[in-house]
Amino acid sequence: MFKKEEFQARRLALQAQLNPKSMMILMAKPHPFRNADTHYPYRPDSNFFYMTGCEEPEAALLLFSKDLGGRALFFNRPRDPSLERWMGFMLGQEGAKEQLGFEETYPIAELNTQLPELLQRVDAVYGPWGQSEAWDNLVFRMQAELKKKVRRGVTWPREFIDVQNLIDEMRVIKSEAEIAAIRYAVNTSVKAHQEVMKYSRPGLYEYQIEACFVYHSGLNNCRYQAYSPIVANGANACILHYEQNSEPLQEGDLLLIDAGAEKNYYASDITRTFPVNGKFSEAQKLIYELVLEAQLAGIESIRPGVVWNQTQQVMLKILTEGLVELGLLKGSVDSLIESKAYLQFYMHGSGHFLGLDVHDAGTYKKAEQWRCYEVGMVLTVEPGLYIDADDLSVDPRWRGIGIRIEDDIVVTKTGAEVLSQNLIKTVADIEAWMAA
Ligand code: GLY
Ligand code: MN
Ligand code: MN
Repeated sequence: MFKKEEFQARRLALQAQLNPKSMMILMAKPHPFRNADTHYPYRPDSNFFYMTGCEEPEAALLLFSKDLGGRALFFNRPRDPSLERWMGFMLGQEGAKEQLGFEETYPIAELNTQLPELLQRVDAVYGPWGQSEAWDNLVFRMQAELKKKVRRGVTWPREFIDVQNLIDEMRVIKSEAEIAAIRYAVNTSVKAHQEVMKYSRPGLYEYQIEACFVYHSGLNNCRYQAYSPIVANGANACILHYEQNSEPLQEGDLLLIDAGAEKNYYASDITRTFPVNGKFSEAQKLIYELVLEAQLAGIESIRPGVVWNQTQQVMLKILTEGLVELGLLKGSVDSLIESKAYLQFYMHGSGHFLGLDVHDAGTYKKAEQWRCYEVGMVLTVEPGLYIDADDLSVDPRWRGIGIRIEDDIVVTKTGAEVLSQNLIKTVADIEAWMAA
């Protein structure tokens, strides 16, 4: 799906941002064990994949600033027929040249031996310092090298600079190929959510709904999920990242499912809330339609040049007005917004960037100012209302209702395209779909 030229262009773009006399290093994270000698499926670190396209562990990317020759060096595992017998194909140094577009490739074991020389004229080293054990070990090794050099009278990297911010910022605006991957993941998730709505009935367990979602993701060519599915019956929905998924679906309750398939490491992130038995109660319907009204207005607010926080402001106004109308909050809308009274029922942001990570890289403020929407940003809009089962301050009929509606959006020249627009979300559409 991705061409090597796209990764090469990213490396050049990052290189152009490095200070003179500097080097950047990124390493693939190790393949984690689940238990004993059984691994988790390997999922490359997002930044490493973004800069290299490499899907294997035990690899490193070194970039040098232009004044130091602008080299891009790639270290990875050499091919090993006996290991390939057990574990499958390995890229090797030739594969890294052909498939990832590197000119200089070396076996990973040479990283340590080459480092002292590579660091000869380097003043600063960029890396994701302090992120993980593998990194801290690397810094440790570099510092050991430094001590040896100092003894020999050589001055060596004076500075360790965090590279994370530079790469994060590059990841904010998505390319066409990235949007295509997200779109694929979203389309798959839409199908899986539709199947879940048909499958749900009282007596099933939340994990069976999860299984249904994962099954249909796989059938539609997404083997992995972007995050652990949240399947929350009734008041479990008030736990924002509920992942236990262990309880039975109850007659008369709502079911919240927040689940998104992953395609080529790109995420989707969609939430629907619907009645387990296919029919909203009056109270559920009132809260649901309030959340939906806020979500539609939130999406409507998105276009290039509008500040990020505008979406939340638009949604807060509608939610607060609605909560007053329904008697859940008392007072004037303005003063309730001012005092953040809505936090009792709505305690998270309007959404987040979406990409290689479900909560994707990038900051929402620059120099303490909210940033504006830009063409090519991909994000979620996901308002919700969560009324605790034991909230004695509200009428009993509202208690235990938790609702979130979440869609995935790409910012376009004229506004916003809702990638997940084919997934139904009105009360009438959900009831009709579940009845059919
Ligand atoms: N699925 C996590 C979130 O919606 O942010
Ligand atoms: Mn989300
Ligand atoms: Mn979500």
